[in-house]
Amino acid sequence: MTTHAIHVQGLEKSYKELRVLRGVDFGVAPGSVFALLGSNGAGKTTVVRILSTLLKPDGGTASVNGFDVAARPAEVRESISLTGQFAAVDGTLTGRENLVLVARLRRVAGPGQVADDLLARFQLTDAARRRVSTYSGGMRRRLDIAMSLIGNPPVVFLDEPTTGLDPQARVEVWNSIKELAGRGTTVLLTTQYLDEAEQLADRIAILHRGRIIADGTLDELKRLLPPAEVEYVEKQPSLEDVFLAIIGDDTGADAPAAAQTAEEKR
Ligand SMILES: Nc1ncnc2c1ncn2[C@@H]1O[C@H](COP(=O)(O)OP(=O)(O)OP(=O)(O)O)[C@@H](O)[C@H]1O
Ligand SMILES: [Mg+2]
Repeated sequence: MTTHAIHVQGLEKSYKELRVLRGVDFGVAPGSVFALLGSNGAGKTTVVRILSTLLKPDGGTASVNGFDVAARPAEVRESISLTGQFAAVDGTLTGRENLVLVARLRRVAGPGQVADDLLARFQLTDAARRRVSTYSGGMRRRLDIAMSLIGNPPVVFLDEPTTGLDPQARVEVWNSIKELAGRGTTVLLTTQYLDEAEQLADRIAILHRGRIIADGTLDELKRLLPPAEVEYVEKQPSLEDVFLAIIGDDTGADAPAAAQTAEEKR
């Protein structure tokens, strides 16, 4: 579908016997933030690797910025940036040097100015001339995201942007992502943190056992909880309540019972 910045249909991927993706479908509207939520090993990074042309799917189709990942991989790569699960900055260089280096590699005009603008945008101007090895985890992550924006890609993939960060650093990275989304960039982020999806995403999809088992806005996902369970809760159900209710059959019990158990534990 051309109206989607990212469109995924029937995506399948196995690693030998392990069927990781079993028919994944979703669409991401241009300029929106989409969170792919799932537990460890759910297949989030696998989806991102397929969308960024690093990995070929076994079945199904995917397109990014209107380009099919299988047929037009070069155009897809020109349309995206990928910030991986582990920061890719060079600790021996300063923050500014890292940015200038990438700007030169991508043949962007005015690399020094591009670097300074990004440093300002990500509140790194004061630390610009310090070696990255002296940066905190949050600063490194912000620099990593800033680096991925050089050349203004219309679609940005952020794979677990805040994993391993302390709460304050997470908020700093969240603000950077919000700023990014505010400029019309399409963002697909993966996370295992429900509050992160709740904070950032226009739409949230839950990847579980190889499929998208829920997909909607936060309000839509909250409405998935049956009314009977809402009675247990004084406040609005959190995304965590929804998540546990939906994947609750993992405990071996049926879903409503598992959801109830989660409530009773409170
Ligand atoms: N190259 C590979 N070879 C074999 N198995 C793999 C390979 N890459 C991933 N897997 C397996 O596929 C499953 C999905 O992995 P993936 O990295 O996509 O999960 P994830 O949702 O990103 O998890 P996490 O939250 O831990 O990052 C896991 O069980 C993983 O062990
Ligand atoms: Mg991962």
